[in-house]
Amino acid sequence: MTAGRARWFTVIALTMGVSILVPTTATATTGDRGGGHGGGGGFSAGAPGAGDDYFPFAGNGGFDVSHYDLDLKYQPPAADPAPLVGRLDGRATITLTATQNLDQFNLDLRGMDVSAVSVNGQRSREIDPPAATATVRGAAYWQVQDDAARIWEVTIRPGQGIRKGQRATVVVEYGGPTTRPTDIEDALYGWVTTRDGAIVVGEPEGTMTWFPVSDHPTDKATYSFTITVPQGKTAVANGLQSRPAKTRAGWTTWYWEAPDPQASYLATATVGDFDLTSTRTRTGLPIVNAVDRDLTPANRATTDASLALQPDMIDFFSGRFGRYPFGSFGAIVDDDTVGYALETQTRPVYSLRAREGTVAHELAHQWFGDSVSPHRWADIWLNEGWATYATWLWTEHRGGQSAQASFDEVMGIDAADPFWTTVVADPGPKGLFVDAVYDRGAATLFALHEKIGDPAFRAGTRLWLQRYRNGDASTEDFQAVFEKASGQDLSAFFDTWVRTPVKPVQ
Ligand code: TRP
Ligand code: ZN
Repeated sequence: MTAGRARWFTVIALTMGVSILVPTTATATTGDRGGGHGGGGGFSAGAPGAGDDYFPFAGNGGFDVSHYDLDLKYQPPAADPAPLVGRLDGRATITLTATQNLDQFNLDLRGMDVSAVSVNGQRSREIDPPAATATVRGAAYWQVQDDAARIWEVTIRPGQGIRKGQRATVVVEYGGPTTRPTDIEDALYGWVTTRDGAIVVGEPEGTMTWFPVSDHPTDKATYSFTITVPQGKTAVANGLQSRPAKTRAGWTTWYWEAPDPQASYLATATVGDFDLTSTRTRTGLPIVNAVDRDLTPANRATTDASLALQPDMIDFFSGRFGRYPFGSFGAIVDDDTVGYALETQTRPVYSLRAREGTVAHELAHQWFGDSVSPHRWADIWLNEGWATYATWLWTEHRGGQSAQASFDEVMGIDAADPFWTTVVADPGPKGLFVDAVYDRGAATLFALHEKIGDPAFRAGTRLWLQRYRNGDASTEDFQAVFEKASGQDLSAFFDTWVRTPVKPVQ
């Protein structure tokens, strides 16, 4: 819902039929395309990115999405030995508000083909990128899919410009084969086709593989999901079921509503052979768990034991961090794997099994990462450091290793080890999930607690979570909050711990 900082690009149409987008310092006006733009001058194109150095084309400028209404139909792959390819068809109804006088804007969409676009009910016609210049008049859209450059954009020109502050409804119909997309480090993410459905996890910018989106955590929105899958399959998204599933002619439609603003990477619509169970915590928070019927017996036992602890974990973290930030919680545990778990909002996704420490980690992310999200991807340690630190606390609470011992373990790593060469507050797009982001990040928080004392640390934590609730914030914001809470200048502390690629001297 909050917009990212503006960063402007110019569209350059190349002769071989691909457009490249080059950062420029000036506003990229689309020029005079005749009237019909609501009167008054100064209409221009929204930027094709949110301004994040790590993923320049993730997110978009010029507008702010408030709601995604997603109507999806998914056919999982045929049984072995057919290829692992499914089919997804969708209609996304996007409510947005222009943050500038807007006569052209982008959405992110990867590997799907757009078949229809309308803005406020007015259809745009598809044109080829080379024709996407001022010579084409009227409502239009085009797609750029450049896998090598990792540029995936739908550009939309409404018939009528959208004035700054005005709301618009954009409807995009699209579809395509679903594959097994990978992130910049070659980890599976996005709409990951599995034999029995799909694991859907979008961090950092994989959500664009399943619907047109402004795919950056600075643009949070609420979501409604209508997901139609073959009868017998269960589709699980964020939030709560808004009405019972309905079966007709061999297809079942699942309805989910996620009323808390969420970052795009935290959306899920995972499909599989899940049993759904619903309970409530003592304070009445709904817990919805979706557990694959085909877990191995050992994984099933591990998962059941871990998920049974969710209410206690929520109590424990609420005592430390303040009340649980959303209207529901729970888990999606798939018998397939993407190689990791993700803290999808209100409903983390687990691969193969849910271990206790992982459940604590993904739950802690609901406060740190989900409610308060990174302002830019360089700030990822604010997610992973906190989730790791919180798990240290949970483990200690459970009578396991003390947080001090966990800290000592990190500080026992030899100063010559490459572990210490990561700049934690700027690990690079391929370093988002390296050990140092997690463990040195957690050690930073432990050391901060030591330095400023328990009362200031708790006050800073609550101030952080209150001030940036349902929003995003940076490492600089974090330092400022803890300086306020402690009354200390912490610049040397944060320089040492997260901005210098050298082991801190204890
Ligand atoms: N954010 C996840 C977690 O820590 C981890 C994650 C997301 C990840 N994408 C990844 C880990 C890719 C390794 C590779 O809960
Ligand atoms: Zn994590």
